[in-house]
Amino acid sequence: MKKVFIKTYGCQMNERDSEAVAAMLRERGYGLAQSEGDADVILLNTCSVRDQAEQKALGKMGFLAQLKREKPGLKLGFMGCMAQRLGQELLDKLPDVDLIVGTQKAHRIADHLEHLAGNGHEPVVDVAAEPGSEATIRDHVAPGAQPTAFVSVMQGCDMRCAFCIVPATRGPERSRSIEDVLAEVRALAASGVKEVTLLGQIVTSYGRDDIAIRDGKSPFVQLLEAVNAVPGIERIRFTSPHPQGFRDDLIGCYGRLEKLCEQVHLPVQSGSNRVLKAMKRPYSVEKYKRIVEKLRARVPEIAVTTDIIVGFPGETEEDFQQTVALVREVACDGVFLFKYSNRTGTPAAAMDGQIPQAGIERRHAELLAVMDGVAAERSARLVGRTMQILVEGEPDTKVVEGRLFGRTRCNRIVFFPGNDRHRGQLLDVRVTRAKDYTLYGDPAILNL
Ligand code: SAH
Ligand code: F3S
Repeated sequence: MKKVFIKTYGCQMNERDSEAVAAMLRERGYGLAQSEGDADVILLNTCSVRDQAEQKALGKMGFLAQLKREKPGLKLGFMGCMAQRLGQELLDKLPDVDLIVGTQKAHRIADHLEHLAGNGHEPVVDVAAEPGSEATIRDHVAPGAQPTAFVSVMQGCDMRCAFCIVPATRGPERSRSIEDVLAEVRALAASGVKEVTLLGQIVTSYGRDDIAIRDGKSPFVQLLEAVNAVPGIERIRFTSPHPQGFRDDLIGCYGRLEKLCEQVHLPVQSGSNRVLKAMKRPYSVEKYKRIVEKLRARVPEIAVTTDIIVGFPGETEEDFQQTVALVREVACDGVFLFKYSNRTGTPAAAMDGQIPQAGIERRHAELLAVMDGVAAERSARLVGRTMQILVEGEPDTKVVEGRLFGRTRCNRIVFFPGNDRHRGQLLDVRVTRAKDYTLYGDPAILNL
């Protein structure tokens, strides 16, 4: 049996795509390799959001090309955003690569591999657009093996944030139908999945071209309501919304839809209105803060995480300090902090006022320290509480012997002494300790 190994870079959408490709290949008779060493096919699912992510994947492929010299039957492929962005260029750089598959063509990988097995050496490059491809990502590897699952509800993004390469690599917005998503969620529930995370590059735009607003509810809110009604599903999350589309109908879902978790990842990017404008992010810092206030008015305990870019062209020290102030003021539970990376072809790449790397590094380190402090305070306040977790299993790297981990509804990881029968269970734990972002707890029953 031929075995495939998929290495994934970047976002949850990529994780989901890799999983769907693995499921498809299994159906077509492949095994899943545990490591690169025992694979016959190695696919790198790539990310283009920052240059660093691309360099990592290129370095990896260079290494794999050497492996191929010792193992000539090995097939190597690129999928994901870098495959889409560079296409044939990747082959020119790395002639040992056999397959380059764009973001709308992942479902064609099995066919391409079959073709490669037949024709021997001619590499395949397939990066064309394909209508309907958003609905092809639906199979899961061994559904039910994990109590949580990602569900892709839309592909692409029609915003034009000045720094972002995603609209170029993922294409225009295309949404699956509510029925199609529901069918997948029901199948997951039937196989034992308890928590779903709905994925899209901009989920607040879900269905806006195809599904009418009903009773003042956007298509995305209608989707949330429908998923909330699926028996067996206990928890719902989604990522990522955009502040522009985060309206009162969506805010009103919190506390109303009982399965919607008390957690929101809402990218703000900057705490300066001047920078937001230059980024072409069509909202103000005040509007962002109002959304968070309204959410907390409904659900005081809601955890708020965000994305921030430091060092966008023209960002002054004052702009940066406004971002620092925002992180403190909003009391973010976590920040995905990015150093601005210049992406060829984006409007920001040609802007004046590019910040020297040393300046970007300094701002990054400063904000990182502030954010760690804020997040640690947010964690510390949870000590002593009893919280529900969904037990996912053992951590990748053994932190403490005999510890399993689960996630709270507010998306914090909790380590606790547990055993196999806890896996996949919803369990109450008493939080006994907090360290940085992580919580430690004991099953609440033991403390009765
Ligand atoms: N809305 C998408 C965003 C994808 S990019 C989603 O959530 O799926 C994820 C994050 O990467 C962005 O929110 C932004 O903070 C960061 N990012 C995007 N382009 C970047 C760039 N050129 N340099 C640094 N960070 C970037
Ligand atoms: Fe990128 Fe902005 Fe869309 S960050 S994915 S262009 S909302």
